[in-house]
Amino acid sequence: MNFPAAMKRSISRAYANLLKCHQPLPLIGVSFRHFSKDEHPVMPPCDFEPEKYESYPYEHIQELRKERIAPSLYTIYKKPLLLHQGHKQWLFDSEGRRYLDLFAGIVTVSVGHCHPKITEAAHKQFGLLCHTSNIFLNPPIHEYAEKLTNLLPGKLKVVYFTNSGSEANDLALQMARVYTGNCDLISLRGGYHGASPLTLSLTAVASYKPGITLSTNCHTTMCPDVFRGVWGGSHCRDSPVQTIRKCSCSPGSCEAKDQYVDQFKETLSTCVGQRLAAFIAEPIQGVGGAVQYPKGFLKEVYELVRERGGLCIADEVQTGFGRTGSHFWGFQTHDVVPDIVTMAKGIGNGFPMGAVITTQEIAKPFAKFLHFNTFGGNPVACVVGSAVLDIIEEEGLQKNCEVIGTQMLLEFAKLRDMFEIVGDVRGKGLMIGIEMVKDKESRKPLPAEEMNLIWEDCKDMGVLFGKGGIYGQTFRIKPPMCITTEDVTFAADVFQRALTRHMERSQK
Ligand SMILES: Cc1ncc(COP(=O)(O)O)c(C=O)c1O
Repeated sequence: MNFPAAMKRSISRAYANLLKCHQPLPLIGVSFRHFSKDEHPVMPPCDFEPEKYESYPYEHIQELRKERIAPSLYTIYKKPLLLHQGHKQWLFDSEGRRYLDLFAGIVTVSVGHCHPKITEAAHKQFGLLCHTSNIFLNPPIHEYAEKLTNLLPGKLKVVYFTNSGSEANDLALQMARVYTGNCDLISLRGGYHGASPLTLSLTAVASYKPGITLSTNCHTTMCPDVFRGVWGGSHCRDSPVQTIRKCSCSPGSCEAKDQYVDQFKETLSTCVGQRLAAFIAEPIQGVGGAVQYPKGFLKEVYELVRERGGLCIADEVQTGFGRTGSHFWGFQTHDVVPDIVTMAKGIGNGFPMGAVITTQEIAKPFAKFLHFNTFGGNPVACVVGSAVLDIIEEEGLQKNCEVIGTQMLLEFAKLRDMFEIVGDVRGKGLMIGIEMVKDKESRKPLPAEEMNLIWEDCKDMGVLFGKGGIYGQTFRIKPPMCITTEDVTFAADVFQRALTRHMERSQK
């Protein structure tokens, strides 16, 4: 292959780095697979045969999308995919083409597309009792409440079921205000907490902000992003892969963490009243681009929040249900216990449901008012949620996240060392981000047009990556938790091929 000079330099640097590497190379084959100009990496086999597509023609679907569906509902890719069937980690389009799904319906299809155990549970419950509203007793809500809350530590044993993550966060924030009698809420910049007026006020990604008055007393503070942020070093985060930044912190100390905690204190001294209602944060930012905070940051911040009477809310909408690999909940990776935990997405493998879990003490004052939602704790939702928990356990999916996620991180880290435009590879388990930059020195975001060309190219070779980051500069890998080593090799090969082609294009 005819590599341009700059790329040859960065590749030989990468070989040299690999040779210098003292640790055994990770579990699977080394990257640097060379593909001829028209050669594509080969997709791992799949014995599933999708049904023939028999719905509206593509053009008619496009027309309906344009004329009958709200324009705020955007699609991705120049020619949006018309997806027709799913099986495990695979998606099939209307023409029967197969894709490796690395985004899982935006971090939602936790145990694999169309898992037969979920289909069977839902089908059985539909035949028994589909809906009563939660003002009556029915078995599934109680069985599931017990099973789900058993997975949380200490007094976190009281659950409210909701229909979405936004609703769960909305409710958690309201509960915190009622319990504390305080009003001020704080979130981290780059965080995404939902699209309702209250949660959107705490969502801090500008592209989602409508620029109209939403809720008051909502404040954001600096995100401790150790790659893009002002401070960061070479062992700040809980990940098999660290940033390319250097630091001289001794083991057990982290100056970046201390600086970011100081910024949080600054927010407390300048933006909010003496007493707080709550602080809400994702254990790893999802929409923000799999941003990980320095170790120890959340623990210290939780203490500061509690000193001011506030509650700590962990938004586990993306990080929950084993995705981080080492733990079932993301907050456990920070060695903290929140006062309220919110969840959605992966909880139902695509079934629309969410939950808020807290203590009796926090839940009690909220019971002075009537609180009602029609569908929360619906019997079908509850049997689906229960089947998801069984599958995670029976199929060892949390462990799979740890093993396969680590392989994925290490494979992509090699590509970071090969290509100047791959700035950072980070994450934990199958919650992974690949931040793209103009160059490693400036860490400026790779422009959107370039991101899109790489993204499209990967899709054309059969891999669907997600995208996120406040500038849309981060590819996201958050697949169904059942993916395999072969999928990792394929995804890394496709990404490498797309990057090589991109470099060749840029040199022309
Ligand atoms: C971390 C986080 N919290 C909350 C939400 C809102 O969830 P929903 O879209 O189900 O309302 C999302 C959605 O992407 C999310 O990623």
